[in-house]
Amino acid sequence: MDDLKTVNDATVKPVRTLPDAQTVLSVRHWTDRLFSFRVTRPQSLRFRSGEFVMIGLLDDNGKPLLRAYSIASPSWDEELEFYSIKVPDGPLTSRLQHIRPGDQIILRPKPVGTLVLDALLPGKRIWFLATGTGIAPFASLMRDPETYEKYDQVVMMHTCRTVAELEYGRQLVEGLKDDPLIGEFVGDKLKYYPTTTREDFPRMGRITDNLASGKVFADLGLAPMDRDSDRAMVCGSLAFNIDVKAVLEGFELREGANSDPREYVVEKAFVGDGI
Ligand code: FAD
Ligand code: A2P
Repeated sequence: MDDLKTVNDATVKPVRTLPDAQTVLSVRHWTDRLFSFRVTRPQSLRFRSGEFVMIGLLDDNGKPLLRAYSIASPSWDEELEFYSIKVPDGPLTSRLQHIRPGDQIILRPKPVGTLVLDALLPGKRIWFLATGTGIAPFASLMRDPETYEKYDQVVMMHTCRTVAELEYGRQLVEGLKDDPLIGEFVGDKLKYYPTTTREDFPRMGRITDNLASGKVFADLGLAPMDRDSDRAMVCGSLAFNIDVKAVLEGFELREGANSDPREYVVEKAFVGDGI
């Protein structure tokens, strides 16, 4: 049993022998469904803030069990941060939720993704629109000086069912202004608009509704979106992404890609929500 690590009830085999092993440095549990963790960064890994990589553990048969994860830390950070769901019977997260500092995870150092600043035409204001763990790529982009060099205003809209599910994003945003590395870039450019949909909170409602009704513009004292000034990045469930796209198209923004930059880009926060 010496070569097996027992983590609570789950048995996690070490991945030290694999070339892509990284060490867990810290873990924080936010709710019974959400946690974040930091791991060592492979020296060779270069990525653009907003991209995702494949991470995972070995399964019972010693085979890598990998899933896509947005890197939540910015590209300049010496460590890598991830923000994760805990799916009760999920093949990966039923185990991953038990990691502790010193454990090893697998990380394939091949970053990809559409939520990168290069995939958008230049603009004045950028909107980060996320539900649930979809805030992860924006946790990276909100901590990247390039975001504030490229845009005069950054609006982070994050919507969850409950207040507790907003806490990771709230603490992250709260810490930005006083951050010795990024604070001066952020200044007063970042506007944060968290809402809940199923628990009382000062601001409530779906992102789609708050954009379409104009409530978010009124609440923040901002002009409505337009194609000349506004750029957007979207990350949530498939249903959310589809509905937000329709709202953005209503403001005449057009979907872009790495190879064809336009006014907005979209990525799924996860696959398989029954659609
Ligand atoms: P799976 O078998 O992968 O999923 C089981 C079911 O759980 C899914 O069918 C879905 O209904 C639900 N589910 C899965 N992930 C989520 C989620 N994040 N939020 C709500 N419900 C979910 N997950 C993260 O937690 N953080 C990330 O940063 C992240 N980035 C991703 C980026 C991309 C591009 C994609 C495609 C997925 C991303 N995911 C992320 C989802 C992740 O890949 C896994 O699905 C998740 O870790 C659960 O793995 P699992 O093996 O336990 O369950
Ligand atoms: P709601 O509570 O009204 O469904 P989930 O936990 O189901 O992934 O949802 C996360 C958040 O995203 C919830 O606040 C949810 O609101 C919201 N949401 C889910 N689907 C959509 C959608 N199609 N358009 C806008 N918001 C959505």
